[in-house]
Amino acid sequence: MEDKEKIAIEALKYVENNSIVGLGTGSTANFFIKHLALKTKKEKLNIHVVASSTVSELEANKHGLKLISIDLLEDIDLYVDGADEVTDDLNVLKGRGYDLVKEKLLAQSAKKFIVIADQSKHVSAIGEKYPIPIEVMKNSWRLTKKLLDRIGHGELRKNSAGDAFSISSAGNYILDYQFKEKDIKKLNEEILSTPGVIETGIFYKITNLALMITNGDIRIISL
Ligand code: 5RP
Repeated sequence: MEDKEKIAIEALKYVENNSIVGLGTGSTANFFIKHLALKTKKEKLNIHVVASSTVSELEANKHGLKLISIDLLEDIDLYVDGADEVTDDLNVLKGRGYDLVKEKLLAQSAKKFIVIADQSKHVSAIGEKYPIPIEVMKNSWRLTKKLLDRIGHGELRKNSAGDAFSISSAGNYILDYQFKEKDIKKLNEEILSTPGVIETGIFYKITNLALMITNGDIRIISL
């Protein structure tokens, strides 16, 4: 079994009966969705789920999980998602799947937010391997980009075919940016204070637990 699947199964230990579980986006999150559905059926649990993206919604539906629409919720019990970068002080970069605002809403609204990731995601500082994803209002993205160009540089993200721009399920564009600022708290605040910015992929001090895996060996990061 590959590491991503094994770590997704590990996260099932944190799922409680009669709870609402938020489903992340990406290949690791997809394994979690599949195994959560198997556990729910096998143990006859009363679990409701909420999806962070259209993809996770389709996956949940495919596996027969009971979906609740995000607009009906005020909070959730648990949110489990993958990540692009994870530091030892539990800061996380997300957003290659581009539904930043929904992912962060669920992560921050959850009583517990657990990141599941293989060791390739471990970094010493956020921004080490990937640019910072920034979800921006679609109709005014050029103005927002020009303002962000004062502190960094980057481009509008294209879709995987490269023939159109990526659009989040909330209908926004995504910028991928690099910045000189290394203080991640300051950087996040600076980006978020730019008009037209809806959300960033920087998950600063939101994560409760990261379950990391290297060649089958699991390491838990908690503060
Ligand atoms: C989506 C994300 C993903 O969780 C992240 O890109 C990791 O993906 P994968 O599990 O496929 O490696 O942040 O926005």
